Amino acid sequence: MKAIAVIALLVLVSCAQARVYSRCEMARILYHDYGVTNLTTLANWICLIQHESSFNDQAVGALNYNGTQDFGLFQINNQWWCQGNVSSYNSCGIACTALLGNLSASWKCAQLVYQQQGFKAWYGWLNYCNGTAPSVADCI
Ligand SMILES: *[C@@H]1O[C@H](CO)[C@@H](O)[C@H](O)[C@H]1NC(C)=O
Ligand SMILES: *[C@@H]1O[C@H](CO)[C@@H](O)[C@H](O)[C@H]1NC(C)=O
Ligand SMILES: *[C@@H]1O[C@H](CO)[C@@H](O)[C@H](O)[C@H]1NC(C)=O
Ligand SMILES: *[C@@H]1O[C@H](CO)[C@@H](O)[C@H](O)[C@H]1NC(C)=O
Ligand SMILES: *[C@@H]1O[C@H](CO)[C@@H](O)[C@H](O)[C@H]1NC(C)=O
Repeated sequence: MKAIAVIALLVLVSCAQARVYSRCEMARILYHDYGVTNLTTLANWICLIQHESSFNDQAVGALNYNGTQDFGLFQINNQWWCQGNVSSYNSCGIACTALLGNLSASWKCAQLVYQQQGFKAWYGWLNYCNGTAPSVADCI
């Protein structure tokens, strides 16, 4: 009983820390606070986030086949962009765990990925959004 109560508490605590944005909420934040006012570009980011993390800012992906892992809203990879438990180029200069629950830090790192590789860096975008990202105009 005690063990079950402790586990239930831990689950509650970890749930309480996760913020799951709604699709329109995220669209409004990127539009108004991050200056993504091109609605085509905005639709692509929203579609990308939806398919990478389901808008959950604490999302940590399952281990990839090569032992790497992806972190946060934009599922940033721990071999290239952030520092986790595997040796990393850490191009964003940030701990992978610091991306969790931090939209501002995640956005900054995602911009670097985008500058270097474009949207095609993300399988979620390649597989679900390329040319087909639904409009978010009704959110703004
Ligand atoms: C919005 O971005 C798209 C894709 O980059 C571009 O083709 C389009 O010209 C931009 N629209 C405006 C109004 O700037
Ligand atoms: C490992 O897998 C991830 C996700 O598929 C990928 O982003 C990364 O480039 C891969 N690393 C290597 C060395 O193949
Ligand atoms: C690194 O591994 C430790 C122990 O397995 C774990 O607690 C921690 O969350 C991991 N950190 C990351 C960024 O994966
Ligand atoms: C988010 O990350 C930025 C950049 O690393 C940092 O300056 C800021 O304090 C973080 N915010 C929170 C709430 O942790
Ligand atoms: C995106 O889709 C277009 C049209 O289907 C295709 O030509 C292009 O190669 C795709 N982009 C990538 C990076 O796969």
